[in-house]
Amino acid sequence: MSGTWIEVCRTDEIDEKDVLGFECRGEKYAIYNTASGFYATAGVCTHEAADLSMGLVIDDIIECPMHQGRFHIPTGKAKSAPACVDLKTYAVKIEDGMVLIELPDGTFAESTA
Ligand code: FES
Repeated sequence: MSGTWIEVCRTDEIDEKDVLGFECRGEKYAIYNTASGFYATAGVCTHEAADLSMGLVIDDIIECPMHQGRFHIPTGKAKSAPACVDLKTYAVKIEDGMVLIELPDGTFAESTA
């Protein structure tokens, strides 16, 4: 995937085993600091659009705050009902203590039209 790297926050702004909400161009993202590293997924649950940044991080799982559906953070795979549609995931890199996520180029299409 080619895309644009966007700076989200400093690494120390997300506690270990926590999730931070991030919004860009009207889209919500969830950024995670887990024991296995930093990850990013879509910020809205695929079941009924709850804000996943309000959810609970349990190892590599995010539990939705509304109906407790669960997703595997690194892959976005839906793991337990009522969530059954996977989350989109985004590449993450750390540079100079900052967390960056790679958003698809189409994310910015309207700004260049
Ligand atoms: S809105 Fe997330 S499980 Fe229902």
